[in-house]
Amino acid sequence: MKVCVFGAGYVGLVTSACLADMGNSVVCVDVDERRVRLLQDGGVPIHEPGLDVLIRRNAKAGRLEFTTDAERAVAHGTLVFVAVGTPAGSDGAADIDNVMVAAATVGRHMRDYKVVIDKSTVPVGTARQVHDTIAAELRARGAEIPYAVVSNPEFLKEGAAIDDFMRPDRIVVGSDDAQATLLMRALYSPFQRNHDRMLVMDVRSAELTKYAANAMLATRISFMNELALLAERVGADIELVRQGIGSDPRIGTHFLYAGCGWGGSCLPKDVLALRQTADRAGAPLSILAAVQAVNDRQRRLLGDRIVQRLGEDLAGTVVAVWGLAFKPGTDDLREAPSLVLVERLLAHGARVQAFDPVAMPAFEALFGRHERLSMAGDPYAAVEGADALAVVTEWHEFRSPDFDRLAGVMRRPCVFDGRNLYDPERLRALGFDHTGIGRGAVEAVPA
Ligand SMILES: NC(=O)c1ccc[n+]([C@@H]2O[C@H](COP(=O)([O-])OP(=O)(O)OC[C@H]3O[C@@H](n4cnc5c(N)ncnc54)[C@H](O)[C@@H]3O)[C@@H](O)[C@H]2O)c1
Repeated sequence: MKVCVFGAGYVGLVTSACLADMGNSVVCVDVDERRVRLLQDGGVPIHEPGLDVLIRRNAKAGRLEFTTDAERAVAHGTLVFVAVGTPAGSDGAADIDNVMVAAATVGRHMRDYKVVIDKSTVPVGTARQVHDTIAAELRARGAEIPYAVVSNPEFLKEGAAIDDFMRPDRIVVGSDDAQATLLMRALYSPFQRNHDRMLVMDVRSAELTKYAANAMLATRISFMNELALLAERVGADIELVRQGIGSDPRIGTHFLYAGCGWGGSCLPKDVLALRQTADRAGAPLSILAAVQAVNDRQRRLLGDRIVQRLGEDLAGTVVAVWGLAFKPGTDDLREAPSLVLVERLLAHGARVQAFDPVAMPAFEALFGRHERLSMAGDPYAAVEGADALAVVTEWHEFRSPDFDRLAGVMRRPCVFDGRNLYDPERLRALGFDHTGIGRGAVEAVPA
C-alpha cells in the first residue's frame, strides 16, 4: 500500500519504518530540513533500539524515503498519517497547530481519494477539525475529492517502540467510514496475524481512549509514589506491597513501581490536556489534579533528600547522577526528573558528575553547559570522589554495579536510589548509606 507519514519524530519514524518493513511504500515528510537531510544521508536523529537498522534496510530496498516536499508526499500516499508533535499549549491544552497545518497541506495537494489518519495524540473533536480544514482547502480550489479522516492513536513506548508497533496489544481505530475502515484493516493485518487486535470504534471514543490510557498509567504511578511515602512513615516496604498487590490479576504488575517521578513526552502533557478537555466539557477530572500534584512533589524528592542529608549548602560537595533520560532505552529528556534534580543540586552549589549511556549529548543540548556540571565517560568515573550517588533512570547497567568498586572510589558511600534498584539491607551490609523510595523508615521531608 502507498503511505505518506507527516512527521519524522519518534512516532512518525517508527510508523514509517515498520510499515515499510511489511512491504508498503512509504514517504515520510517533515518540515525540519536538517532532520530530513540527516535521514536522507543515512543518519537517525533519535535513539530508539533497532530503528536505525530498520530505516536503513527499508531505505536501501527503496520502500522508505524522506522528504520536505509535502506535495510529492501527499501525491504518493493513499493513506496519510499525521504524526506531528502536539505539545502542551500555554493553558495546558494540546496545541494542535501542527496537525492543522498538516491537514491544510493535505487539502491543498490531494488529487485523489485519501484516508487521513490522526496518529498524533489529539483532543476529542480534532478529527472533525481536520475534516473541516481539508474541506475548506478543497473548496478554495474548487475541487471535489472524496476523503475520510480516522483516528488511530499510538500506544508505543519509547525504548521498546519497534516491538510495540510490530506486535501491538491493540490497534485502536476510530472510523465512521466503511471504506477507510477496510483500508486500515488491510494495512494493519500483517501486524496481527495470529488474532485480530483491531478495535474499531467511533472517532471520538478513539480520541478519548488515548488520553484515558495515559491518564490511567500516570494515576497508577502517582498512587504508588504517594503510598511509598506512607510506607516510609509506617515502616513498611513499598516493594513488598507492590508485589503483594500486583499479583492480583485485577491490579496487575505493570506501572506499579514507586520512584522519583514520571516524565517523558507523553504522560505529563496528556494528563494536562485531558484535564483541560474535562474542565471545558464541565466534567472536571479531580483525580488528575492529585496525580499531577503527587508527581510534582515526587520529582523534587531526590533533591529534597540529598539536601536534607548533606545540607543546604552543597558547595564542595560532589553528587553523581546515574541516568538522565526520562526512562531507559531512549535519549528523550522531555520532562525528565533528572532536569529537576540537576538544576536543584547546582542551585545549592554542588558539583554534578552525570552519566547516561545515551542521553548525555541531548542533556547538554537541552540543559546547557555549567561549570559545575560534567558528563562522565562511564558510571564509575561519575562516582569518582562523590559524596552521594543519585540513581535517576533504571538503565540495565546500573542494576548490578560493582559495589566494592563504588565504595572504593566514592568519598562517602551514600546512595539515593530513585528507582529502587538495590536491596537496602544488602547495601547497608556493604557499608552504604542507602535511601530508596518507600523502603522503610526515612526521616520525613516536608511536603
Ligand atoms: N513519543 C512517544 O512516545 C509517543 C507515543 C504515543 C503518541 N505520541 C504522540 O505522537 C505525536 C508525535 O510525537 P513525537 O514524540 O513523535 O514528536 P516529535 O517531536 O519527536 O516529532 C514531531 C515531528 O513532527 C514534525 N512536524 C511538525 N509539524 C509538521 C508538519 N506540518 N509537517 C511535517 N512535519 C511536521 C517536527 O518537525 C518533528 O520532527 C504527539 O502527538 C505525541 O503526543 C508520542
